[in-house]
Amino acid sequence: MPPQPPVPERGPATPASLRPLYEVPAGCVSLYEEIADCPACILARTRSRTVPGSGPAPCDLMFIGEAPGQREDELGLPFVGRSGQFLDELLASVGRSRADVYVTNVVKCRPPANRDPNPEEIAECADYLERQIALVAPRVIATLGRFSMARWFPGERISQIHGRAVQRDGRWIVPMYHPAAALRDGSLRAVMKQDFAQLPALLAEAV
Ligand code: URA
Repeated sequence: MPPQPPVPERGPATPASLRPLYEVPAGCVSLYEEIADCPACILARTRSRTVPGSGPAPCDLMFIGEAPGQREDELGLPFVGRSGQFLDELLASVGRSRADVYVTNVVKCRPPANRDPNPEEIAECADYLERQIALVAPRVIATLGRFSMARWFPGERISQIHGRAVQRDGRWIVPMYHPAAALRDGSLRAVMKQDFAQLPALLAEAV
């Protein structure tokens, strides 16, 4: 496995706005170190760096995407490419920002050429995600796209169930489209905004 390059948090390539996202919550230090050294699947051979997650832990609101893309692989942070810009816009629409939500992915390493993560890769990374959920202890989890949705809604179709929150294990789980889907199909932008609009009420509601 090639050694992981140093985190570029202070390098010229990292926009100042992203630097706070490199802060590792105290409870996550050993987990992030474990992820950084993870040799478990073939993605370890091609990644530039692992992308464990960003944001505080514990945190009331958690988002789970699919897998890092090119920009995420370069910077070691989730959702810092075009999808991330739209995610930021959606967060702002409900009065939240990246600094006060926890964001991660189903797999922590970039699949080559941005292909979908395969079942073996998802299975190898599943324990990291479970431990993150335990550490973050969110009141609400929003799944972004079909891979994270499958953890709670196997066999369901996003077009049928997006925005419909369900209670599981003492928290709300809300399936949402992936922001990249809205970049491909502009009509989904409004749909995603509507789905996000219910987050404040869910956060305020006892489960
Ligand atoms: N898409 C994802 O699912 N996750 C990222 O971190 C970036 C793009």
